[in-house]
Amino acid sequence: MTDVTGQRLAILGGPRAVPATLAFRVWPEITREDEDLVLASLRQDSHAFGPHASRLQEEFAAWNGNRYCMATNSGTAALHLCVAACGVGPGDEVITTALSWTSSASCIIHHSGVPVFVDVDWASMHLDPARIEAAISPRTRAILVVHYWGVACDMGAILAIARRHQLPVIEDACQAHGATWQGQKVGTLGDVGAFSLNQNKNLCGGEGGLFVTNDASRWDRGRAVTSFTDMRPPNAGRDYHDYGLGWMYRTSDLAAAFALSQLRRLDRTNAQAVANWHELDQRLAGTPGLVRSFTHAERPTNGYAYVFRAEPQAARQRQVPLRQLTQALVRALGAEGLPLSLANWLLPAHAVFQAKDAFGRGAPWTHARPEISYDLAQYPVAQDCVDTCLWNINTHRPPNGSAQLEAIANAVRKVFGQLDHVPLDPV
Ligand SMILES: Cc1ncc(COP(=O)(O)O)c(C=O)c1O
Repeated sequence: MTDVTGQRLAILGGPRAVPATLAFRVWPEITREDEDLVLASLRQDSHAFGPHASRLQEEFAAWNGNRYCMATNSGTAALHLCVAACGVGPGDEVITTALSWTSSASCIIHHSGVPVFVDVDWASMHLDPARIEAAISPRTRAILVVHYWGVACDMGAILAIARRHQLPVIEDACQAHGATWQGQKVGTLGDVGAFSLNQNKNLCGGEGGLFVTNDASRWDRGRAVTSFTDMRPPNAGRDYHDYGLGWMYRTSDLAAAFALSQLRRLDRTNAQAVANWHELDQRLAGTPGLVRSFTHAERPTNGYAYVFRAEPQAARQRQVPLRQLTQALVRALGAEGLPLSLANWLLPAHAVFQAKDAFGRGAPWTHARPEISYDLAQYPVAQDCVDTCLWNINTHRPPNGSAQLEAIANAVRKVFGQLDHVPLDPV
C-alpha cells in the first residue's frame, strides 16, 4: 500500500486520499430480520401504536434497565415529556449546555420553560460541571445534560450538584444508546431520559424516540402530556375529554417494528461501531495539529460519532479565525473524498434565544426572570468547539470496515500533515 499522506493535496490538483472506487456505506445496515418485522407490522391491523410499539417499549426498558419506557414519534417529543415530568412551568429555568442539537433547548420552551445555558469543557465538549452551580437560581427546576457525541457526561460531579440542590436531572441520551458511566447505562443515571431513533442514531427506526424513567410519578406526569392529561389507567380507555393541553406524540407501528428489529442486534452493532471508532483513533495517533475524538475510561464512547478538531494553535499560526481554517479543512478533506460537516450553531446564538421570543410577544420569557441573558461572551469554550468541530457519523460506523477507516485516516493525516498549505479561501 503506497503512503499517500505526503502527496500533493487533492484540492491543489494532487491525487485523492480516498480512492474514487471506495464507497462509504450508509448507516444502518438493513437485514432480512428488519424486512420481516416491518412486513409483519404492515400485515396486522393496529398501525397507530400497535403491538410492535408495545414490544419496543418492553424490550428497550429491559435492555437499558428502566422500569418505564414510552415510544414517541421523535427524540424531541421524548425530551418534551422529560421536561413535563420534572414539573417545569411557565418561566421556570432549566440549566443546559450551550453546545448541542437545538432540541436539547427547544424541548424546554415546548413546556413554556426557559433554558439557562452553561459553557462546556473543551476536552469532552459536554456541559462543564464546574459552571453549573453559578447558574442555579430560585427558579431552577431541572438540569438537562446531553451525552453528546455518544459519550456520557461527567455524571459523578453533576449528580452531586443535583442532589445538593434537590434538582432532577434530565438525560438527553439521543446520541448515546448504550453509552455508560462507571458501567451504568445512560438513561438510568438521572431522573428521566430521552433517546432518538432517527436515521442517524445507533438505534434507528427511521424516526422515533423513547422516554424512559424509573420513577412512577414522573412517568405519569410525562406520559400525561401525550394523552391530554387524562391520567386514567391505560385499560380504562378514554373519555375523549381534554383535562389539559396535550400533544400528538404517538409512534407508527411500522417505525417501531424497524427499531425493534435493530434493538435485537444493538449490542452487536454497537460493539462494531466502538471497534471501528478505536481502529480509526489508533490510525490517527500522532497526527500533527489534530485533537482526537474524546472518550474516557469511566465513560467510554458508544461509537456514534468521531469528531476531528484542529488545535486552535494551527489557526493562530496562520493568523485566521478558527472557523476560517475549519471551513478550509472541510473543503480540503472533501476534495480528498472525505465528506465532513461543520458543528451545529452555538445554542444561545439561535435567533429564537437572541430575540427571547418563541411563541410571539416574547413568550415564554414574559414569565421568566428578566436577568436571564444569552450574551454569547458567556460561552467562549463552546464557541471554540463550534468553530473547530468537523464530524461525520456515516463514514466510520458499520457496515464500513478497515478499508474505509484506512481511507479516512489517510485523508486526515494527509491534510493535517500539510496544514500550512491548505488554501484558506475556495480555489
Ligand atoms: C443531542 C440530540 N438531542 C435531541 C435530538 C432530537 O432527536 P429527534 O431528531 O429524534 O427529534 C437529537 C437529534 O439529532 C440530538 O442529536
